[in-house]
Amino acid sequence: MQQVSQQQIDAWNEEFSTASPQELLKFFMGKFGERLALSSSLGAEDQVLADMMVKIDPEVRIFTLDTGRLFPETYQLIARTEDHYHIKMEVFFPSADSVEAMVREDGVNLFYKSLELRKKCCHVRKLEPLARAFKTLDAWVCGLRREQSVTRQQVQAVEWDGGNGLLKINPLVSWTEADVWDYVKKEGVPYNVLHDKGYPSIGCQPCTRAVAPGQDVRSGRWWWENPEQKECGLHVS
Ligand code: ADX
Ligand code: SF4
Repeated sequence: MQQVSQQQIDAWNEEFSTASPQELLKFFMGKFGERLALSSSLGAEDQVLADMMVKIDPEVRIFTLDTGRLFPETYQLIARTEDHYHIKMEVFFPSADSVEAMVREDGVNLFYKSLELRKKCCHVRKLEPLARAFKTLDAWVCGLRREQSVTRQQVQAVEWDGGNGLLKINPLVSWTEADVWDYVKKEGVPYNVLHDKGYPSIGCQPCTRAVAPGQDVRSGRWWWENPEQKECGLHVS
């Protein structure tokens, strides 16, 4: 889509600075219709957003990137979410050819070997499928929160995603983890059972482990890497 000016983006961020996530969502869902979708990892933030969005419009689009390496509990949650809201999620799978070539060259668990190979795996299993999802979109909604990590402190509610050429909406930027869980409990939102077993942030199974109470929420993701490098490439500013 045609680039939205920074002036317009600043104006939206100003306009919605005190608005609720639902008000922000209502505005952009109305503006973009089926050219907007929630990008869901099935994490608690995304489940909150799914709940809000389905309540605004039951036809809203929700997609997820099935890397092929997700936890069984995450697949169960996809099915539970579809049943709970009477929706169908759009599941994007990586190219079989790309996965085969990568695994032949670098092994099934290449991500532990180097940062470069970890990024290659994320590229094949997440970014290529995401690029296919973007072909039908002018705006994507994500569950990023500033509090989540050092790499996310500058995130804005509305951003121009220049790398991908579309608008990015982060309705929960200023929410705390407690805000997320208050909403989940209050609204009876279905969530991943792993959250109750020490997994605050859940990605692919080989790249996620449980954390001790009080530890940084993302410390169990790619735990062998430095915090500054812990992004899979979905979110580059
Ligand atoms: S990640 O980039 O390190 O994996 P994180 O798990 O914190 O990110 O999720 C941040 C946001 O990225 C989610 O709220 C969601 O919008 C998007 N996201 C992450 N993983 C996926 C996925 N597998 N499918 C779709 N969206 C995802
Ligand atoms: Fe591959 Fe791990 Fe990235 Fe998942 S998180 S795509 S398994 S490197």
